[in-house]
Amino acid sequence: MDSLRTCSMIFPGIEVRLTGLSLAWFLALLGGVTAEPDTTPEAGNSPHLYHQAGQDVTLECKVQAPQETHLRQLHVYWHFLQEPAGISVVHSYSQGADQLGDQAEEFRGRTRLSLQGLNQGVVALILSDVRPSDSGTYRCFLMDNQGADTMDIVLQVAAPYELPQLIILSQDEGQVSLQCHTTGGYPKPEILWHDANGTQLSQEEPVELQRSSRGTFDVWSNLSLTYWAGMSVCCTLNHAPLQQNMSVCVILPALVTQPQAEETGFPVWVIPALTLVLVTIVCMGLIHWALPLIPMEGIEVRCPLTEESQGWSPVRVDPPEEEMAEH
Ligand SMILES: *[C@@H]1O[C@H](CO)[C@@H](O)[C@H](O)[C@H]1NC(C)=O
Ligand SMILES: *[C@@H]1O[C@H](CO)[C@@H](O)[C@H](O)[C@H]1NC(C)=O
Ligand SMILES: *[C@@H]1O[C@H](CO)[C@@H](O)[C@H](O)[C@H]1NC(C)=O
Repeated sequence: MDSLRTCSMIFPGIEVRLTGLSLAWFLALLGGVTAEPDTTPEAGNSPHLYHQAGQDVTLECKVQAPQETHLRQLHVYWHFLQEPAGISVVHSYSQGADQLGDQAEEFRGRTRLSLQGLNQGVVALILSDVRPSDSGTYRCFLMDNQGADTMDIVLQVAAPYELPQLIILSQDEGQVSLQCHTTGGYPKPEILWHDANGTQLSQEEPVELQRSSRGTFDVWSNLSLTYWAGMSVCCTLNHAPLQQNMSVCVILPALVTQPQAEETGFPVWVIPALTLVLVTIVCMGLIHWALPLIPMEGIEVRCPLTEESQGWSPVRVDPPEEEMAEH
């Protein structure tokens, strides 16, 4: 049994005899408490409490009612189990008084034990001014001269998120990259992307989370999509524990096209090549049309030969042979 193993881990050397502990009984008593799947394996059957940051929370440990226990023989230990940080001491009581020498720093001055319900088997811990970093599993351990009992309670401390910020990361023709960012909340929110008509733009974008020392999250979500100028894109944050529902939208602007952008796309070799072709045509034309007018002595026409030969090669054009023969 997991709790038994943890008990002997927390209290080495103490022989633990668990009194019949019925989880079904606890859950029946805590029927009104909403439960959510939890990642910690031992927390599967534990009651879950949801609270808002800043409130005072009462954690009720319900055990089999001890019979005629003298308070001097009663030991009560509350521990906080948090992954990956480990186990820390929340509150201890023994020899008829609080024993706070080994209390963890983060709980100092915020805990109070109530033994009023001890005859009904209820030992309550009042934790004041709760923070998101208090979220985790609380384990109570009760022991007297007749036996011992233990119980887990999962506490979730919700904090509200700030209004998301929506920025354009990059934009080129037809394609845009956006980022939605928010901070200060707990637990993980839901981020949705949609257009102005409420049509969802993506099923599930990856969300990047970063936990701060206060236990709150920094949240980022990116979206890339094809767009048209004037299109509205919205980012919605849903934070169910606090019923937060916030949307921010951006109207995507038309991309400003730069005129020289088209000129740079023009291949450099085109202009010299066109010139060469043009000069060749003029030379050919000149040869064809001017040939009959060429005097007896002939003329010299200079034409460029190929693209490679930069220089001009002289071409000797002689008068037509028939005319030569007549003379
Ligand atoms: C939203 O609806 C209007 C009218 O039904 C339509 O003209 C427009 O194109 C729609 N916008 C988007 C982004 O689908
Ligand atoms: C969003 O894009 C930025 C910039 O390209 C990148 O640094 C970040 O890791 C991306 N975040 C997610 C959740 O994809
Ligand atoms: C919050 O937003 C979601 C999705 O955008 C919607 O389904 C839900 O009805 C909204 N809740 C409230 C209380 O407005």
